[in-house]
Amino acid sequence: MESMHIISTKQFLDKKILGSIFKLADDMEEKDRAGILINSLKGKILASLFYEPSTRTRFSFESAMHKLGGNVISTESAIHFSSVTKGESLQDTIKIISGYSDIIILRHFKEGSAEIASRFSSVPIINAGDGMGEHPTQALLDLYTIKKEFGNIDNIKIALLGDLLYGRTIHSLLHLLGAYNVDIFLISPEQLKLPEKYKNYLDKKGIDYKEIDNIKKIIKEIDVLYVTRIQKERFNSEDEYEKLKNSYKIYSEMLKEMKDNAIIMHPLPRVNEISTDIDDDKRAAYFRQAKNGLYIRMALLEMIFKKN
Ligand code: NCD
Repeated sequence: MESMHIISTKQFLDKKILGSIFKLADDMEEKDRAGILINSLKGKILASLFYEPSTRTRFSFESAMHKLGGNVISTESAIHFSSVTKGESLQDTIKIISGYSDIIILRHFKEGSAEIASRFSSVPIINAGDGMGEHPTQALLDLYTIKKEFGNIDNIKIALLGDLLYGRTIHSLLHLLGAYNVDIFLISPEQLKLPEKYKNYLDKKGIDYKEIDNIKKIIKEIDVLYVTRIQKERFNSEDEYEKLKNSYKIYSEMLKEMKDNAIIMHPLPRVNEISTDIDDDKRAAYFRQAKNGLYIRMALLEMIFKKN
């Protein structure tokens, strides 16, 4: 990590750095499961500033900070309860909050907002999702999940299914996959295809990817099926969303086709795209994935504060 901020997964394209984050996350899990208290961040304050809803990202960051002995300050919903309602700019809000805290976890509806915030902050900014841009800590926990489930990342075949246009977790994950030797399949409704800039990135990295029109065509050969929600909040009209909302669904019949050791991932929340029927199948990895978020975020906080 060359910068104190975490804005994009492009900052993490080094297998050694990724390996050390994963190792630290393993240590965090071991200590947590053994009930060992880690007080390394005692006296530090994390501010969570979320302009969009969140369950996993916010709770796991806040829990991670508490588990490391630090404190948390936050607002229920920054869009309603901070001074933005009075017309304050993000830039002024960040200048103020960075004076009250040691790290800011920012989720914002606008692509590029985390990068802007980092220019005005005196403390590290962690991008917890910037509109249709990126969600780097989610992608780190996604990659960590693959590593944990398979023991390796190289040589896996991964299918990314869903809203590849607006899905920021996909964008961040693609950067990271660029550090490995993997095969990628992209499957989405025509209107929600991966933006050119990410395809160009894969081309530049020499990563093999194919756009496929139906998951059924490759379901037998993949190791990881990464499903995403159609990002309703990014659409201009309800109608547009209604047309696409049931474009794909994973259900138990389909699992019969999948490899026995394949896994199904999802950053969550899911709406209709994965049937709850498959939740008890050992290949359904999304709840394990969400739990890994806690350990990855503990590791990231620990690393950031050790450095500063
Ligand atoms: C994702 C997000 O916010 O981008 N959620 C998460 O952090 N796990 C995915 C989504 O909202 O669909």
